[in-house]
Amino acid sequence: MELTEPAQRAQKRDMLEALGLEVSDVIGDADFGYRWSSKRVAFADKGRLRLGSWVRGTHQGATMAGCRVDHPLIAAAADQVEHEARALRIAPYDEAKSKGDLRYVWLKTDGESVLVTLIVAHEETRVAELAEQLTLAAGVAASVQSGAGNAMRGAREPVTLRGVARISGNVGDVHVDVGPLGFLQPNPQAIAEAYRDLVGDIDGAPARGGVAWDLYAGAGVTTALLRKAFTEVVAAESYPESAAALGIEPVRVEDFLAARAESAVTPDLIVANPPRKGLGEKVCAALVAAGAPHLHVMSCGPEGLARDLGRLIDGGYTLSSLTAYDTLPQTPHVEVVAKLVRG
Ligand SMILES: C[S@@+](CC[C@H](N)C(=O)[O-])C[C@H]1O[C@@H](n2cnc3c(N)ncnc32)[C@H](O)[C@@H]1O
Repeated sequence: MELTEPAQRAQKRDMLEALGLEVSDVIGDADFGYRWSSKRVAFADKGRLRLGSWVRGTHQGATMAGCRVDHPLIAAAADQVEHEARALRIAPYDEAKSKGDLRYVWLKTDGESVLVTLIVAHEETRVAELAEQLTLAAGVAASVQSGAGNAMRGAREPVTLRGVARISGNVGDVHVDVGPLGFLQPNPQAIAEAYRDLVGDIDGAPARGGVAWDLYAGAGVTTALLRKAFTEVVAAESYPESAAALGIEPVRVEDFLAARAESAVTPDLIVANPPRKGLGEKVCAALVAAGAPHLHVMSCGPEGLARDLGRLIDGGYTLSSLTAYDTLPQTPHVEVVAKLVRG
């Protein structure tokens, strides 16, 4: 954060190069206030609830008051959650002791209103009282996540406590609609350019063809973009709410690829946008076996991507372009689009 944004991008390029990812460019021009989806963890500070983040690699809480990367509506709504939760003496959840109530708060905005999701540890929770006080949120939902770790999504459907259940907005020229636990890219404006690259051919024109697969399709932006240029687009996504919005049954990519291994259809293009850990060995092997002439991968986890590209290149693919997008300035994160061709 001490660096100017161009200097941050130069540093990101060096970080990628050290992992063996030689990108042609690190594209970005976002300023502060760009983050439209943000998470807070609840922790105890001198016996009282605070919202913030875990200090990297620890379970020690750090406040995010004054954080300038969040959209101002998200920052204000998060401050209100903290203030009202403290006033109601709602206890933060302590994983080590399995005690307390509020675990995480997930805030999403469409640029005009905010959807707040309160993630609690147990069914016995007082967050319904809290929801009534959250006047800056257009909608408040609650979800129970009793497991260990930092996952936000529990086994049950979220419940709307007050106001709207969903928000919607545009990513590039695609309309997206997300509910309490649906995935929304943190910086929809900057990511739109990365999506255009992801679904485009090597010269930047929209790729065209008969069959395309969209793996880890999430909110469906890439599915919608691909549908403009391909006769048939098959999406795979495991999270039920996102799968329902895509009009498909939830399916894990591993199972989707195993089921298609028997079929004679080879897609013209496969697009994959896995979570941070990457595709992994099994999915890379299944992709090599699927044998699409074009394979485009977008990743927010450069270490996993570097490993995956090694596997895909060993499997017979050639890297034809590699471009980074600085979608989250002031943080070490970067989104990378890799385009591979068979042979
Ligand atoms: C990085 S997000 C990308 C979502 C989408 N492409 C987008 O840009 O909005 C990864 C998505 O993969 C889904 N996911 C995670 N693991 C999965 C798996 N094994 N099989 C299918 N989908 C998975 C998540 O629910 C999430 O929607």
